[in-house]
Amino acid sequence: MKKLITLALFALSLTACSGQEKLATGEPVKVTSLGGDSRIEDVRPADAMPEYPSRGKSLARDYQEQPPLIPHKADYSITIDKNSCMNCHSWDKATRMKATPVAKSHVIDDKGTLNGQNYFCTQCHVPQADNKQAIVENSFNH
Ligand code: HEC
Ligand code: HEC
Repeated sequence: MKKLITLALFALSLTACSGQEKLATGEPVKVTSLGGDSRIEDVRPADAMPEYPSRGKSLARDYQEQPPLIPHKADYSITIDKNSCMNCHSWDKATRMKATPVAKSHVIDDKGTLNGQNYFCTQCHVPQADNKQAIVENSFNH
């Protein structure tokens, strides 16, 4: 009897998680790759290098409270020990580096000490290169 119950339970567990059922529709799902139509073995031309607005130029903002777009490359390192963006944008260095100091909303005192919540600049600020094709359609000008 015990054997029979074990067998029955075993058979039940097999049917429960076999996962072998056929899909309801036979239609293949069509997915478009961001890399375009090139086949995996094709060598397609490299994308253009990003061209940023010339140094010293900031980009017009599109809406209120927008984190301004970064008009230059943004691969300066931000690590737990050091934020390289602050080499130019900190309150004490900005004038010398001809950069805008970080906004008042980013600091916690009148010396310009950065608020921890604003440490990871690129969480909100993104670089803008005008020769790059937008990955998703949008109706903003920049
Ligand atoms: C070598 C100096 C330098 C470094 C490093 C640097 N920037 Fe800049 N940044 C500039 C200059 C110069 C400008 C253009 C003048 C301006 O608008 O502030 C600028 C502009 C900006 C602006 C636009 C400001 C505005 O009001 O339109 C943002 C945002 C910005 N940088 C963010 C960053 C971030 C984030 C980093 C780090 C990933 C960074 N910058 C690193 C020099 C620097
Ligand atoms: C949580 C989002 C956020 C983070 C993180 C952040 N910012 Fe901003 N930043 C903003 C917003 C929003 C504005 C525009 C409103 C304002 O001035 O407060 C702004 C404004 C600025 C400006 C323009 C100031 C002005 O007077 O025109 C600069 C420069 C800037 N940020 C640099 C930085 C740098 C450098 C870092 C990293 C150390 C950083 N931001 C981190 C959201 C952020």
